[in-house]
Amino acid sequence: MSDDRLIVALDVPNIIAGMDLVNKLGETVSFYKIGLGMLTGGGLALADELKQEHNKRIFLDLKLFDIGATVEAAVKGIAKYELDFLTVHGDPNVVKAAKEGAANSDLKILAVTILTSLDREDLNENLYKPGNISDLVVERAERAFKAGADGVIASPLESKKIRNLSSASGKLIVTPGVRPKGAELGDQKRISTPRDAIQNGSSHIVVGRPIVKSSNPKLAANNIVNEIKS
Ligand code: C5P
Repeated sequence: MSDDRLIVALDVPNIIAGMDLVNKLGETVSFYKIGLGMLTGGGLALADELKQEHNKRIFLDLKLFDIGATVEAAVKGIAKYELDFLTVHGDPNVVKAAKEGAANSDLKILAVTILTSLDREDLNENLYKPGNISDLVVERAERAFKAGADGVIASPLESKKIRNLSSASGKLIVTPGVRPKGAELGDQKRISTPRDAIQNGSSHIVVGRPIVKSSNPKLAANNIVNEIKS
């Protein structure tokens, strides 16, 4: 049995590899994330096929950022595919434009606060204001919610603080960097287990390599589903 709080990151290069993994996972997984890495490998076509023909939910992780009119137009086009989640950068003007573009559709707009690949030195280079990154993430989440975001992407470190914001009531918090006990960390540093992430207030978890690279992806996914259901 699936649980749509588990989103599997389809981090494979093309449609063929994507369909192969989806077939292996079968009914165990109902929600997939398709990102920029598969854009030139037919990512949007795969998203459409999984949604329309396989009844899967789809999170399109495109992290859009542009002037309002362009973001609105892009989201309007994407909304026609009847997908479920889309990421944009969490700047309030970008979020507002994305919500305009998604009007009259069920597409949820998720805001990226600060990329976890950036440290304070990078933020200085990028002219972000001074302050502790974790506090800035929470502040950006709050601003994104006020601009109308349906949810945010948050690391396990910040999801609890964000869940406690009054503006987060009823909002989605989608958390990558999730590792079942004993799984390899890969390049993820700020991790939590599936159960901890859900207990800390995440509405969904995104898991890639522990499932995608497993010798038995279905078993790996099934173990995570059981963990979050228990
Ligand atoms: O393989 P892994 O479980 O680390 O994959 C997590 C997915 O979430 C990948 O698609 C990765 O790009 C994405 N992601 C992340 N950490 C973030 C934002 C996105 O791991 N802070």
